[in-house]
Amino acid sequence: MASLTPIRVTERAQKLAQEILHPGDIAIDATAGKGRDAAFLAQCVGPGGHVHAFDIQPVAIDASRNLLTIAGLMERVTLHPRSHAEIKESIPLEQHGRVGAVLFNLGYLPGGSPTIITQPASTAKALQAARAELRVGGRIVCVSYTGHPGGEQESDIVRQFADQCEQSGDAVQRLGLDPNPGRPWVMTVTRNFA
Ligand SMILES: C[S@@+](CC[C@H](N)C(=O)[O-])C[C@H]1O[C@@H](n2cnc3c(N)ncnc32)[C@H](O)[C@@H]1O
Repeated sequence: MASLTPIRVTERAQKLAQEILHPGDIAIDATAGKGRDAAFLAQCVGPGGHVHAFDIQPVAIDASRNLLTIAGLMERVTLHPRSHAEIKESIPLEQHGRVGAVLFNLGYLPGGSPTIITQPASTAKALQAARAELRVGGRIVCVSYTGHPGGEQESDIVRQFADQCEQSGDAVQRLGLDPNPGRPWVMTVTRNFA
């Protein structure tokens, strides 16, 4: 299987979310970072849709707000300065189970501190929370990086989640995973049943 370069992998992930999203949808950017994915999702859902974007770093929330404001997309986005493990507690009641796509781009903020990084335990909780919010046909897209300390352990969590969803009847893709040690890969889980 061809490897996915870091640039291509994020674009690939965006396209995999775009395939699913319709105007008016609800989408989640689980790792806002500099706001590029949130801006992309906001364009996909259009003026009638909404995006919830999460990040634990104030600098990432500020960067995302700046980008979204410049792009004229801030009205479609709610920025949540908290962990993606708290998705359920953060989105409005009427949006539960109606989410079209959830995008995770794991790891650390490019240009930021490599010590502030997604963690296996909270990633596991967030993936389960994201799955619970999907509408039928909705999709989780998750980019995992295995080349940094802790990356392999987090990647294992993502693999286990994919296996569990597949056993439950969801459609799962693992793109660029094997044989591809140390490289990023993309998982998608598409909810198949009510
Ligand atoms: C690779 S960056 C995301 C890039 C981003 N999607 C973009 O378009 O610029 C990963 C981000 O995850 C954030 N992060 C780490 N742990 C988190 C958590 N528990 N909940 C939400 N975000 C977290 C980091 O602060 C960092 O900004």
